[in-house]
Amino acid sequence: MKIVLMSGSTRRDSLNTTVLETVRHILAGLPGAHETADLAVAELPYYEAGLELADGSAAVRAAKDLVAGADLLFISTPSYNGAMPGALKNALDWLSRAEGETPSPLAGRVTAVASASPGGRGGVEAQAGLVAVLERCGARVVGHEPVGVARAAKAPTEDGRYTDPELVARLESLTRAALAAAGTRAEVLV
Ligand code: FNR
Repeated sequence: MKIVLMSGSTRRDSLNTTVLETVRHILAGLPGAHETADLAVAELPYYEAGLELADGSAAVRAAKDLVAGADLLFISTPSYNGAMPGALKNALDWLSRAEGETPSPLAGRVTAVASASPGGRGGVEAQAGLVAVLERCGARVVGHEPVGVARAAKAPTEDGRYTDPELVARLESLTRAALAAAGTRAEVLV
Protein backbone atom coordinates (compact mmCIF):
# COMPACT_ATOMS: atom_id res chain seq x y z
CA MET A 1 0.00 0.00 0.00
CA LYS A 2 1.13 3.55 -0.71
CA ILE A 3 0.33 5.84 2.19
CA VAL A 4 0.68 9.63 2.14
CA LEU A 5 1.19 11.21 5.56
CA MET A 6 0.05 14.84 5.81
CA SER A 7 0.61 16.88 8.96
CA GLY A 8 -1.64 19.90 9.31
CA SER A 9 1.17 21.70 11.09
CA THR A 10 3.99 23.74 9.57
CA ARG A 11 5.92 23.69 12.85
CA ARG A 12 9.27 22.02 13.38
CA ASP A 13 8.89 19.48 16.21
CA SER A 14 5.14 19.38 15.55
CA LEU A 15 3.06 17.14 17.79
CA ASN A 16 1.03 16.10 14.76
CA THR A 17 4.13 15.17 12.80
CA THR A 18 5.05 13.03 15.83
CA VAL A 19 1.66 11.31 15.49
CA LEU A 20 2.45 10.54 11.85
CA GLU A 21 5.92 9.25 12.71
CA THR A 22 4.18 6.90 15.14
CA VAL A 23 1.85 5.77 12.37
CA ARG A 24 4.84 5.19 10.07
CA HIS A 25 6.43 3.00 12.76
CA ILE A 26 3.16 1.10 13.29
CA LEU A 27 2.88 0.49 9.53
CA ALA A 28 6.40 -0.93 9.45
CA GLY A 29 5.33 -3.56 11.99
CA LEU A 30 2.11 -4.59 10.27
CA PRO A 31 1.84 -7.33 7.64
CA GLY A 32 2.12 -6.22 4.01
CA ALA A 33 4.52 -3.93 2.19
CA HIS A 34 3.67 -0.36 3.09
CA GLU A 35 5.40 2.58 1.47
CA THR A 36 5.02 6.00 3.10
CA ALA A 37 5.60 9.50 1.72
CA ASP A 38 5.21 12.89 3.40
CA LEU A 39 3.20 15.78 2.03
CA ALA A 40 4.40 19.07 3.55
CA VAL A 41 1.56 21.61 3.51
CA ALA A 42 4.03 24.49 4.02
CA GLU A 43 5.51 23.88 0.56
CA LEU A 44 2.28 24.81 -1.20
CA PRO A 45 1.58 28.41 -2.23
CA TYR A 46 -1.69 30.03 -1.26
CA TYR A 47 -4.42 28.90 -3.61
CA GLU A 48 -4.81 31.36 -6.44
CA ALA A 49 -6.93 30.72 -9.53
CA GLY A 50 -4.49 32.48 -11.88
CA LEU A 51 -1.62 30.31 -10.70
CA GLU A 52 -3.77 27.22 -11.16
CA LEU A 53 -4.78 28.24 -14.70
CA ALA A 54 -1.13 28.81 -15.61
CA ASP A 55 -0.27 25.38 -14.11
CA GLY A 56 2.38 27.38 -12.29
CA SER A 57 3.35 25.47 -9.16
CA ALA A 58 5.62 22.43 -9.23
CA ALA A 59 4.88 21.85 -5.54
CA VAL A 60 1.13 21.66 -6.22
CA ARG A 61 1.69 19.30 -9.17
CA ALA A 62 3.84 17.04 -6.99
CA ALA A 63 1.29 17.08 -4.14
CA LYS A 64 -1.62 16.23 -6.45
CA ASP A 65 0.32 13.41 -8.12
CA LEU A 66 1.39 12.04 -4.75
CA VAL A 67 -2.16 11.88 -3.40
CA ALA A 68 -3.59 10.61 -6.70
CA GLY A 69 -1.21 7.66 -6.52
CA ALA A 70 -1.91 6.84 -2.87
CA ASP A 71 -4.03 4.00 -1.53
CA LEU A 72 -4.46 5.92 1.70
CA LEU A 73 -4.11 9.51 2.89
CA PHE A 74 -3.44 9.86 6.63
CA ILE A 75 -3.87 13.35 8.11
CA SER A 76 -3.08 14.52 11.62
CA THR A 77 -4.24 18.04 12.40
CA PRO A 78 -3.74 20.59 15.14
CA SER A 79 -6.73 22.51 16.41
CA TYR A 80 -6.42 26.23 15.81
CA ASN A 81 -9.37 27.80 17.58
CA GLY A 82 -11.38 24.66 17.09
CA ALA A 83 -10.61 24.19 13.40
CA MET A 84 -7.87 22.89 11.12
CA PRO A 85 -5.03 25.37 10.44
CA GLY A 86 -5.28 27.51 7.31
CA ALA A 87 -2.22 25.80 5.78
CA LEU A 88 -4.02 22.46 5.85
CA LYS A 89 -7.24 23.92 4.43
CA ASN A 90 -5.15 25.51 1.67
CA ALA A 91 -3.61 22.14 0.83
CA LEU A 92 -7.05 20.52 0.70
CA ASP A 93 -8.31 23.33 -1.55
CA TRP A 94 -5.52 22.62 -4.04
CA LEU A 95 -6.11 18.87 -3.79
CA SER A 96 -9.85 19.34 -4.32
CA ARG A 97 -9.37 20.64 -7.83
CA ALA A 98 -10.22 18.45 -10.80
CA GLU A 99 -8.36 19.12 -14.06
CA GLY A 100 -10.44 18.53 -17.16
CA GLU A 101 -11.25 14.81 -17.22
CA THR A 102 -8.87 14.14 -14.33
CA PRO A 103 -10.81 14.05 -11.06
CA SER A 104 -9.68 15.65 -7.83
CA PRO A 105 -7.05 13.50 -6.09
CA LEU A 106 -9.35 13.53 -3.06
CA ALA A 107 -12.31 12.01 -4.92
CA GLY A 108 -12.78 8.48 -3.60
CA ARG A 109 -9.52 8.68 -1.63
CA VAL A 110 -9.55 6.64 1.56
CA THR A 111 -8.52 9.11 4.27
CA ALA A 112 -7.81 8.65 7.97
CA VAL A 113 -7.93 11.56 10.39
CA ALA A 114 -6.25 12.10 13.78
CA SER A 115 -5.29 15.14 15.85
CA ALA A 116 -2.94 16.17 18.65
CA SER A 117 -2.76 19.04 21.10
CA PRO A 118 -1.04 19.99 24.35
CA GLY A 119 -4.57 20.37 25.76
CA GLY A 120 -6.85 17.81 27.33
CA ARG A 121 -9.05 17.16 24.28
CA GLY A 122 -6.27 16.32 21.85
CA GLY A 123 -7.61 18.73 19.26
CA VAL A 124 -10.58 16.46 18.41
CA GLU A 125 -12.79 19.53 18.06
CA ALA A 126 -10.93 20.29 14.81
CA GLN A 127 -11.73 16.90 13.32
CA ALA A 128 -15.42 17.50 12.56
CA GLY A 129 -14.69 20.42 10.26
CA LEU A 130 -11.83 18.56 8.61
CA VAL A 131 -14.03 15.51 7.99
CA ALA A 132 -16.79 17.74 6.58
CA VAL A 133 -14.37 19.30 4.07
CA LEU A 134 -12.92 15.92 3.11
CA GLU A 135 -16.38 14.45 2.55
CA ARG A 136 -17.43 17.45 0.51
CA CYS A 137 -14.40 16.79 -1.69
CA GLY A 138 -15.49 13.17 -2.15
CA ALA A 139 -12.90 11.55 0.11
CA ARG A 140 -13.84 8.31 1.87
CA VAL A 141 -13.14 9.10 5.51
CA VAL A 142 -12.28 6.02 7.55
CA GLY A 143 -14.96 5.18 10.09
CA HIS A 144 -13.42 5.01 13.56
CA GLU A 145 -13.95 6.65 16.91
CA PRO A 146 -12.03 9.96 16.90
CA VAL A 147 -8.37 9.56 17.84
CA GLY A 148 -6.96 12.68 19.49
CA VAL A 149 -3.67 12.78 21.35
CA ALA A 150 -4.32 14.79 24.51
CA ARG A 151 -1.48 16.41 26.50
CA ALA A 152 0.65 15.48 23.51
CA ALA A 153 3.56 17.73 24.51
CA LYS A 154 4.08 15.65 27.65
CA ALA A 155 3.61 12.18 26.16
CA PRO A 156 6.83 10.12 26.07
CA THR A 157 8.66 9.91 22.74
CA GLU A 158 11.57 8.02 21.24
CA ASP A 159 13.13 8.76 17.84
CA GLY A 160 10.43 11.35 17.13
CA ARG A 161 7.46 9.06 17.78
CA TYR A 162 5.14 8.36 20.69
CA THR A 163 5.79 5.32 22.85
CA ASP A 164 2.90 5.28 25.36
CA PRO A 165 1.33 1.82 24.83
CA GLU A 166 -2.28 2.98 25.20
CA LEU A 167 -1.74 5.80 22.71
CA VAL A 168 0.12 3.56 20.26
CA ALA A 169 -2.74 1.02 20.52
CA ARG A 170 -5.33 3.69 19.62
CA LEU A 171 -3.27 4.82 16.64
CA GLU A 172 -2.74 1.20 15.59
CA SER A 173 -6.49 0.59 15.73
CA LEU A 174 -7.10 3.57 13.43
CA THR A 175 -4.26 2.50 11.13
CA ARG A 176 -5.65 -1.04 10.85
CA ALA A 177 -9.14 0.32 10.07
CA ALA A 178 -7.63 2.60 7.42
CA LEU A 179 -5.68 -0.24 5.78
CA ALA A 180 -8.82 -2.38 5.76
CA ALA A 181 -10.78 0.43 4.07
CA ALA A 182 -7.97 1.02 1.56
CA GLY A 183 -7.82 -2.72 0.83
CA THR A 184 -11.51 -2.69 0.03
CA ARG A 185 -10.95 0.16 -2.39
CA ALA A 186 -8.03 -1.64 -4.05
CA GLU A 187 -10.26 -4.69 -4.60
CA VAL A 188 -12.95 -2.49 -6.13
CA LEU A 189 -10.42 -1.06 -8.58
CA VAL A 190 -9.10 -4.42 -9.89
C1 FNR B 1 -3.69 26.81 19.20
N1 FNR B 1 -3.73 25.70 20.02
C2 FNR B 1 -4.94 25.12 20.34
N2 FNR B 1 -5.00 23.91 20.99
C3 FNR B 1 -6.21 23.33 21.25
O1 FNR B 1 -6.24 22.24 21.82
N3 FNR B 1 -7.37 23.94 20.89
C4 FNR B 1 -7.40 25.13 20.25
O2 FNR B 1 -8.46 25.63 19.92
C5 FNR B 1 -6.14 25.75 19.95
N4 FNR B 1 -6.10 26.96 19.29
C6 FNR B 1 -4.89 27.43 18.82
C7 FNR B 1 -4.88 28.54 17.97
C8 FNR B 1 -3.68 28.98 17.45
C9 FNR B 1 -3.67 30.14 16.48
C10 FNR B 1 -2.46 28.35 17.79
C11 FNR B 1 -1.15 28.82 17.20
C12 FNR B 1 -2.47 27.30 18.66
C13 FNR B 1 -2.48 25.09 20.49
C14 FNR B 1 -2.01 24.02 19.54
O3 FNR B 1 -2.70 22.82 19.85
C15 FNR B 1 -0.51 23.81 19.72
O4 FNR B 1 0.17 24.95 19.24
C16 FNR B 1 -0.02 22.56 19.00
O5 FNR B 1 1.32 22.34 19.36
C17 FNR B 1 -0.17 22.68 17.50
O6 FNR B 1 0.12 21.45 16.88
P1 FNR B 1 1.59 21.12 16.32
O7 FNR B 1 2.08 22.30 15.55
O8 FNR B 1 2.47 20.84 17.51
O9 FNR B 1 1.40 19.90 15.48
